[in-house]
Amino acid sequence: MNNIRKILVNKDNTCKAVWFMRQAGRYLPEFQKIRSKNQNFIELCLNSKLSSEITLQPIKRFNLDSAIIFSDILMTPFALGQKVRFVKDHGPKLDRIDFEKILDVNEIEFTKKLDQVYNSINITRKKLDSDKSLIGFVGAPWTLLVYMLNLKKDKVYTNLHVFENDKKKIDLVLEKLIKFLCIHIDNQVQSGVDIIQIFDSWAGLLPEDKIKDLCYMPNARIVEFCKKKKIINICFPKGIKEKYKNFNEIVKPDGISIDYEIEPGWAKKELRKVVIQGGLDPKLLLSSEEEMIEGATKYIKIFKDNPYIFNLGHGLLPETDPDRVQKLVDYYRNFK
Ligand code: CP3
Repeated sequence: MNNIRKILVNKDNTCKAVWFMRQAGRYLPEFQKIRSKNQNFIELCLNSKLSSEITLQPIKRFNLDSAIIFSDILMTPFALGQKVRFVKDHGPKLDRIDFEKILDVNEIEFTKKLDQVYNSINITRKKLDSDKSLIGFVGAPWTLLVYMLNLKKDKVYTNLHVFENDKKKIDLVLEKLIKFLCIHIDNQVQSGVDIIQIFDSWAGLLPEDKIKDLCYMPNARIVEFCKKKKIINICFPKGIKEKYKNFNEIVKPDGISIDYEIEPGWAKKELRKVVIQGGLDPKLLLSSEEEMIEGATKYIKIFKDNPYIFNLGHGLLPETDPDRVQKLVDYYRNFK
């Protein structure tokens, strides 16, 4: 039984669990079929029947050890009253932030807006085999702020002055996010998820003098909340390079997901008292089969005597051929 909980809780290295970030999504024809009939992405996330079906699609296809609930990190700003749209080929677009409105939202209003996400978790947990984990997730506060304040334009980090001008208000929103992300985590656990992953996808944008306040501190507070509630947690501070070591020592999560820039040998040596997850470059699934296998073998060999969760260094790319995913899962499962 490849139980992720066993790996994370008992540090069991006889379990060999595999799942993939963005496993439920655009590379799957069965997802695209549903998506083409449901143009509004937020509404799709709030359609518990369909979102549960999408969550289970990669499990049916690849028999992965874990399902991640089909939702989005931007459901948090949505539930805090900020308008979120997903524009085809442009990604998410959020309306200009209204600080007062966001600071005013209470827990009941917030939870009510997400009740169909929680319903979807409930439905999915009942359908999922008991030896498979259901992963819930949140975006870390900094990554959410990048979208909420529209700090990132065309992959360039241009708007730091916005951040300085509104510093006081932003600090209040940061506190609000920490509090409400903990509520969202708690609600997901009450509805049936076994593990929480915290995505700090834009941590790598932070300059040296801001990383403590905007990445380590908020992640540490959320992990502290999880620990108090005995909620198993995995952090993903993407792009922070050698600062992964500081992050791990300060935040102390149960699991840490490494990105494709991190040398697995370095991670094994430097990231102590934590279960490591992932690392394999998702682009390798687009290259030749030999290159993909060679890449996967490196991770498998390095982590063979460690509790390790096989995954990628970021999400599966939309161009990925699902047969390749199957080949990778088979290779990992049959590796001797
Ligand atoms: O399969 C899963 O991982 C479960 C569902 C999931 C989605 N988004 C569905 C989704 C999860 C865990 C996320 C996390 C997420 N969303 C992150 C953190 C992980 C990462 O990739 O760094 C971020 C930064 C977002 C924000 C977001 N949502 C963006 C930038 C986009 C547009 C482009 C993209 O990356 O897909 C989305 C839309 C989105 N979220 C889609 C899916 C399946 C694509 C929707 C579509 O157009 O069909």
